Amino acid sequence: MDNYILVLLFLLSISCQAQTPADIIVGGPCEGCEAIFESGDKKLSSIDTLPLFLENESKLKITGSVFQKDGETPAADVIIYIYHTNRKGVYQTKGDETGWAKRHGFIRGWVKTDAAGSYTFYTFRPGAYPSRDEPEHIHITVKEPGKTAYYLDEYVFADDPLLTKEKKRNSDNRSGSGIMNPVLENGMMTIHRDLILGLNIPDYE
Ligand SMILES: [Fe+2]
Repeated sequence: MDNYILVLLFLLSISCQAQTPADIIVGGPCEGCEAIFESGDKKLSSIDTLPLFLENESKLKITGSVFQKDGETPAADVIIYIYHTNRKGVYQTKGDETGWAKRHGFIRGWVKTDAAGSYTFYTFRPGAYPSRDEPEHIHITVKEPGKTAYYLDEYVFADDPLLTKEKKRNSDNRSGSGIMNPVLENGMMTIHRDLILGLNIPDYE
C-alpha cells in the first residue's frame, strides 16, 4: 500500500478515540466524548446515582426511553453519560482526577439502556456557572452500538431565567429537545426525556 495512504489511515485512527475500528463516524466533532469510556470497572445498568446525590437539593430524577431513529423501536445497550456542575456552578474535582474528569469533575454517571431502552439517573439540579452567562445544564453523550459517541442537546430547565428566548431558538434538538419541565413525582423533581437516536445528528443514516 502507498505510504501516503498508510499515514492517512494512521492519522484517522488516532484522530477520534471515541470509536472502535468498526464504528461509523457520526455527529461531527465532539470534544470530550471520550469520557463516555471512563466508567472504569463499574458494571453499567440502566440506573445510576451520581455522586453527592444525598447531600444536595433539589434532588432530580432523569428518566426516559431511547428509541431508534424510527421513533418507536426501543434501543438497547446504548451507553449514556451525563455530567454537570455542583450547586455553585463548578465542575467539582477532588484533585486526583485523570482524563476528562479533570474538566468534567466527578459529578457524572453512566448507564446502559435495558431491553426496553429505558434509562434513569438520580442526581440533583446543578447551579449555573458563577459568570451566569449560561443556563443550568446537564451535559449528555450517547454511544450506541456501531456508531461513534456523539453529544446531544444538554438538559436545561424551562423555568431557568438564564434560558433566554434566543438560547431556546438556537437549540439544535440533537436527539430531541433538551428543554425540560420538571414535575414532582413521589416527592422528587422528575424530568422525562425520550431520546431518538440519530435525530438531527450529522452524518447519521
Ligand atoms: Fe457545561
